[in-house]
Amino acid sequence: MEKIIDENKQGEKLATIATEGNTRKLFIESYGCQMNFSDSEIVASIMAKEGFNTTQNLEDADLVLVNTCSIRDKAEQTIRNRLKKYNDIKRKINPNMKVGVLGCMAERLKDKFLEEEKIVDLVVGPDAYKDLPNLIKEVDDGRNAMNVILSKEETYGDIAPVRLNSNGVTAFVSITRGCDNMCTFCVVPFTRGRERSRDPQSVIEEINQLVDKGFKEVTLLGQNVDSYLWYGGGLKKDFKNASEMQKATAVDFAKLLDMVAIAQPKLRIRFSTSNPQDMSLEVIHVMAKHRNICKYIHLPVQSGSDRVLKLMNRQHTRKEYMELVDNIYKIVPEMALSQDMISGFPTETEEDHQDTLYLMKYVKYDFGFMFAYSERPGTLAARKMEDDIPLEIKKRRLQEVINLQQEIGHQRLKLHVGKIQEVLIEKSSKKSDQHWAGRNTQNTMVVFPKNGQYKPGDFVNVKINECTSATLLGEAVGYSENN
Ligand code: SAH
Ligand code: F3S
Repeated sequence: MEKIIDENKQGEKLATIATEGNTRKLFIESYGCQMNFSDSEIVASIMAKEGFNTTQNLEDADLVLVNTCSIRDKAEQTIRNRLKKYNDIKRKINPNMKVGVLGCMAERLKDKFLEEEKIVDLVVGPDAYKDLPNLIKEVDDGRNAMNVILSKEETYGDIAPVRLNSNGVTAFVSITRGCDNMCTFCVVPFTRGRERSRDPQSVIEEINQLVDKGFKEVTLLGQNVDSYLWYGGGLKKDFKNASEMQKATAVDFAKLLDMVAIAQPKLRIRFSTSNPQDMSLEVIHVMAKHRNICKYIHLPVQSGSDRVLKLMNRQHTRKEYMELVDNIYKIVPEMALSQDMISGFPTETEEDHQDTLYLMKYVKYDFGFMFAYSERPGTLAARKMEDDIPLEIKKRRLQEVINLQQEIGHQRLKLHVGKIQEVLIEKSSKKSDQHWAGRNTQNTMVVFPKNGQYKPGDFVNVKINECTSATLLGEAVGYSENN
């Protein structure tokens, strides 16, 4: 999830909202996965009711909230450096500024944060944002405040997020929270708690509101969207017993996707992230059935070696993964796939590494997010396995994985050249304000010259003429039928 934000939104993002009558200023910034960016929109909504408008200016903020990431050690170091910056500003310019940490680091470090980082006044875990009004009162009274209680139910389904830094075209909608998978390297199950799914009705309502406001694309978010499952709903009297009722009214991810696609046939729908072990062929069939569901799946695999997959507690073999990929391409030949890979997991051998490279060649991923293994305190891997691959070797293997991905990605990119593709215009190109930028269904960035007629939010047919290392270049040839 992370890099997608890095590429499309350039890391941290600031935002402003202004509600009349609000007098206090909140500076909120987010790091890490899309879920954090989405959570910050929930937090901004809660804080707006408490009298806070957001500001882009750190120097005159009454309150700074930073939504943090723990996924790798480097992510945590980035936040520590950021806290130093807040400290500087507080000392030199803004002595009354209060600082709160939200998200995964808050959950992982708890009161250690208050001890280790004197600048921090407030620590709030991902399931405790509704307690912010009480916690802020504590801070106003001069006390440090903390709530890091995880929940089995909280989905924030009843909170209308405030869209931060919105391009007005694309938005995130979270559908599940937490993760029950317990991959041995991963800190997420500890920081985000048990997996729970959000009421499909509230998902559809949020999407309808987005469409009313002019949004053209949503990304359904979860650590593991394919295990989405909702049991509620239905009238008890219509069923003989509880289990019959549950079966009849259960909504799984395939059904949710179908519901959303039917409810808003002109809206583009994406989702992230899919865990291969939970992805059903039903989902692929639903993708094939609806033209408005984008033909792209982020399908992290982490390693191509059966031995390593087992040590990682990934619940599928390399063969099963390859079969899933074969089926995906069979059902939707134009599908784009991306991966997450970890190089240098404990005990990884050269042979395991070669298995990963082989798998990449087999699947032909369009792009990928690749990392060196970073030991996370408290995870099973940290407790039971020695982080025994020397940094130099981790780095070398990672570089080989990255190089191969670039090569394969470029081959895949070239396949688009010469075609006419539907692009949803999102914004001006980063490199030139004379060009529009948007994505095709496969999630590849497409850049083409502006010619006065089109605007962000338009679906345009673009003839692809050439490609750079990661972007397609083309020219608009008319509105697409989706407009
Ligand atoms: N299901 C999640 C995965 C979250 S973590 C999702 O929605 O994307 C994102 C990626 O970070 C993982 O797929 C994995 O490749 C990487 N990652 C997680 N823990 C890691 C660790 N300890 N060291 C290196 N990379 C890690
Ligand atoms: Fe982490 Fe595995 Fe869940 S990578 S988020 S424990 S699917």
